[in-house]
Amino acid sequence: MQNLEKPNQNNQVTDFSGGRRLSVAPMLDWTDRHYRVMARLISRHAWLYTEMINAGAIVYGDPDRFLYYNEGENPLALQLGGSEPALLAEAAKRAAAYAYDEINLNCGCPSPRVQKGAFGACLMQEVALVADCLNTMQDAVPDIPVTIKHRIGIDRQTEYAPLADFVGTLSDKTACRVFIVHARNAWLDGLSPKENRDIPPLRYDYVHRLKREFPQLEIIINGGIDHNDAVAAQLAAVDGVMVGRACYHNPMIMHDWDRRFYGSDKAAPDLDSIVHALYDYACRQLAAGRGTTLRHMVRHYLGLTHGLNGARQWRRMLSDANLLGANNPQLILDAWQAVQRLN
Ligand SMILES: Cc1cc2nc3c(=O)[nH]c(=O)nc-3n(C[C@H](O)[C@H](O)[C@H](O)COP(=O)(O)O)c2cc1C
Repeated sequence: MQNLEKPNQNNQVTDFSGGRRLSVAPMLDWTDRHYRVMARLISRHAWLYTEMINAGAIVYGDPDRFLYYNEGENPLALQLGGSEPALLAEAAKRAAAYAYDEINLNCGCPSPRVQKGAFGACLMQEVALVADCLNTMQDAVPDIPVTIKHRIGIDRQTEYAPLADFVGTLSDKTACRVFIVHARNAWLDGLSPKENRDIPPLRYDYVHRLKREFPQLEIIINGGIDHNDAVAAQLAAVDGVMVGRACYHNPMIMHDWDRRFYGSDKAAPDLDSIVHALYDYACRQLAAGRGTTLRHMVRHYLGLTHGLNGARQWRRMLSDANLLGANNPQLILDAWQAVQRLN
């Protein structure tokens, strides 16, 4: 684990110590660089993940479009989707130039589009291929940890043994030491990706058992963990907790993380400072070009006032097409003023 400090654009200092104790899950269309800037303002320590990026898009497309991120987002992991070892390795190599802190292989996505490309969760049925992918990637980027995110099983397979075999084989045959386990099966036959995040039952006990049986591995648990007391309870059984939807719909859940889970004595900025830092960020982004519009950024801020009086007003203003059309970051401060008037 790296242990260095880097200032971000808002002159906050990001701290790498504590590693993946808490992380924000990779979420397609949600955890883009604008979201991650907000997350980093709230927690200096949380480990952040990109959305899943198809290895082919990096290798055959415009790498900068997929790999660029803002200074200060680290610690940041790139999640790759793919199943061709050479293509994944080439994508990892290109990513190395961008100083990602981890490259993660997606073996958990159940989307039919992903299955057609033969990657995501269906890779759990092909452990030899997964080992080949991880090894080829790790050889390409020897200085960056290559990790995996997967489910506890596929379809109606509900035994623990195949999960332990999958993890055991990869730990024997690869250098991968970090296993992020979404604690439910992926049902590849008929559920939508959204249903696959809710319907297959959660089996936290399987992930806890993995940690007991493979104590040398870093086991991170994920799935349905949506408040900080639940995070604390999980940390008694595993090395880290990855939170997805709760960090998106209620980003201030992360406000406690540095103090409570990383032992930091620095108070996280209050919401007023966060909103003003986001305003500054929006001004800089719009000035810098890159095709960014106000809407690209503020769509990720809708949950920021979750639970406060005026949250509805905040969401309404930040998603109003007419107001957004002016592309003026002042909208963020106006919406915040509307919330403050009610609190
Ligand atoms: C909108 C959305 C997009 C997602 N995209 C990805 C993805 O790109 N890669 C991935 O491994 N998981 C993806 N997931 C799954 C999450 O990483 C996580 O495993 C899942 O939401 C369960 O965690 P939670 O209950 O804390 O949300 C996505 C989830 C959501 C809600």
